[in-house]
Amino acid sequence: MKTFQKIGEERNASGVDQFIVRLDHIAYRVKMGTREALMAELMNILPYKLFKSFKVVSSNATTTCLKMADTLLIIVISEGLSEDSVVEKYCQKYGNRIHHFAYEVKDIEKVVKIQKARGIKFTTEKVIGSEEEGIKQIFTLPTQNSNHIIEYIQRFGDFDGFFTPSNIAQLMLSTEKLSEH
Ligand SMILES: [Fe+2]
Repeated sequence: MKTFQKIGEERNASGVDQFIVRLDHIAYRVKMGTREALMAELMNILPYKLFKSFKVVSSNATTTCLKMADTLLIIVISEGLSEDSVVEKYCQKYGNRIHHFAYEVKDIEKVVKIQKARGIKFTTEKVIGSEEEGIKQIFTLPTQNSNHIIEYIQRFGDFDGFFTPSNIAQLMLSTEKLSEH
């Protein structure tokens, strides 16, 4: 294995560091019927409140965002609404857990180009979303030594959301194969 110093030097030399800004949100996936229980637990421990909730029709799931001050990152919780939902299948295999950490980046196309050249794999060939929609996102494949994946996210203009309905549907479907093994 390479030394940590070597890994850092190679990553830095690739130019990717300058584009990665901050941790943006954490997303949980939970079993059917446990989303509100997790919300209640987290809201009891941390000063969060309900921001918004909506249904992802194509994945038959409900996604809720918890938010508080700008200093706290957003928490996103998704729950399948049927046995065949990609979210429920994932949770039947792995249980309730964090599905991804999302990092805000400055130029997502550049980040993906650099990272692909370095051998990093993603769940989709291309970035999901567009500048017109205000948001672009992509998921990496899971690392071999942890249980979550990494999302890169870039916003445009005054868009302040975490996905669009079309983005989240595509993102969820892109992870379908991950729950099969
Ligand atoms: Fe996300």
